[in-house]
Amino acid sequence: MVLKKVEMRLTAQEDVVTARQATRALAVEIGLSIVDQTKIVTAASELARNMVTHGGGGVATLEILEKTSKRGLRLTFEDSGPGIPDLERAMQDGYTSGDGLGLGLGGAKRLCSEFSIYSQPGVGTRVTVTRWKG
Ligand SMILES: Nc1ncnc2c1ncn2[C@@H]1O[C@H](COP(=O)(O)OP(=O)(O)OP(=O)(O)O)[C@@H](O)[C@H]1O
Ligand SMILES: [Mg+2]
Repeated sequence: MVLKKVEMRLTAQEDVVTARQATRALAVEIGLSIVDQTKIVTAASELARNMVTHGGGGVATLEILEKTSKRGLRLTFEDSGPGIPDLERAMQDGYTSGDGLGLGLGGAKRLCSEFSIYSQPGVGTRVTVTRWKG
């Protein structure tokens, strides 16, 4: 069940900061530990930055979830950019098509309880991560 939903359009680098702050606020609201707050905020930062840098901007949806009295935070980043032709390669640490370190996607996956990525070249990319409390 979705208890709260926040949507924001991210197009510029500064918007990544806004997404970080909004993620932090929701993480605090559901009572995530400081360590878990940092994990999901870091994941949000990487995915927001990817969306702005590689995807040409898009929409971030931040949701507080409840499942059998357990709470979690789900973040979805969706863009209509160029998409990712080889997902397996993109997920590998060290692969970058630009001048990054190629650690964003793999890092975001490791920092969350659930991770899913869907991308179609010429259509866009959607990445969803969830971090549950406890
Ligand atoms: N939203 C997106 N749209 C299109 N391509 C993407 C998107 N997100 C990631 N990619 C592709 O996947 C690659 C790997 O992403 P990842 O975040 O791991 O590394 P990076 O962004 O290149 O570098 P870093 O995040 O370490 O600065 C990117 O170089 C890019 O080619
Ligand atoms: Mg990145």
